[in-house]
Amino acid sequence: MDRYGVFGNPIGHSKSPQIHRLFAEQTGQALSYEALLAPLDDFPGFAWAFFNEGRGANVTVPFKEQAFALVDELSERARLAGAVNTLLKRDDGSLYGDNTDGAGLLHDLLDNAGVTLRGKSILLLGAGGAVRGVLEPLLAQAPAALVIANRTLEKAEALTRAFADFGPVAAAGFDWLEEPVDLIINGTSASLGGELPPLAPCLIVPGHTLCYDMMYAATPTPFCQWAADLGAQTRDGLGMLVGQAAEAFELWRGVRPDTAPVLEALRRQLGAA
Ligand SMILES: NC(=O)c1ccc[n+]([C@@H]2O[C@H](COP(=O)([O-])OP(=O)(O)OC[C@H]3O[C@@H](n4cnc5c(N)ncnc54)[C@H](OP(=O)(O)O)[C@@H]3O)[C@@H](O)[C@H]2O)c1
Repeated sequence: MDRYGVFGNPIGHSKSPQIHRLFAEQTGQALSYEALLAPLDDFPGFAWAFFNEGRGANVTVPFKEQAFALVDELSERARLAGAVNTLLKRDDGSLYGDNTDGAGLLHDLLDNAGVTLRGKSILLLGAGGAVRGVLEPLLAQAPAALVIANRTLEKAEALTRAFADFGPVAAAGFDWLEEPVDLIINGTSASLGGELPPLAPCLIVPGHTLCYDMMYAATPTPFCQWAADLGAQTRDGLGMLVGQAAEAFELWRGVRPDTAPVLEALRRQLGAA
């Protein structure tokens, strides 16, 4: 049976094994998929040992940049993201790296939530790996403006310079923000610590604004709760997670799974927990 897995540290929380098991059942693919705790001090050795027989893997925190450095060939979107979240071992033994986070976010926004981004204004909070991965796909949707706000302003400015050729992108500190936008995406890891990004109280958030947290949880994340309290629309990142997994599954198996029943199953399970 073809072997797949997800590398991370920690990894116990990962929903990827369940998602890929459901995709495999749905599409009739015979494969195994497991969560694998990779050592912090030898990710390359661990990954290559897995690929003695493994066919593909997902990569999560904190190894996406190391996976980027490991591969023989990169997809264009992985090259732009500077990070790899999907590995494929080719028949000739070489390792191919892709980044499916941006496609996962777009699938959730466009296909699941029915949002259009052309001509819209977007505020993207954070300037870490996840934001870097979604920047080009978001700009490819031709928004009217995209502002990156980050606690460490220099990182937002560096991203702005790196992606200036792809669309109307600008950088800001949290305290400068007040203009209303159509979409706010929280790509910071603040929710992981139960915190809210330090948004200025003068930021205007109209009722039509969609506030999207890349993080997800059984109960509303602090960011989604903040947005709901202001009367805005909210959505968490569970659909993005399932969407990026579907992209990886298609790369590995050549068949596109239906994400809707899997997202439903995960949401039900989160609710029950
Ligand atoms: N749903 C999905 O499929 C999916 C996929 C990928 C990532 N994610 C989520 O996206 C989030 C970011 O992941 P990442 O890989 O980009 O992490 P990362 O590379 O470590 O970047 C973290 C970012 O969050 C900012 N930050 C951290 N704590 C903050 C706080 N208390 N207030 C304001 N800003 C804060 C950092 O700002 P500084 O630069 O100032 O340190 C940095 O911009 C995580 O919650 C992750 O779970 C979800």
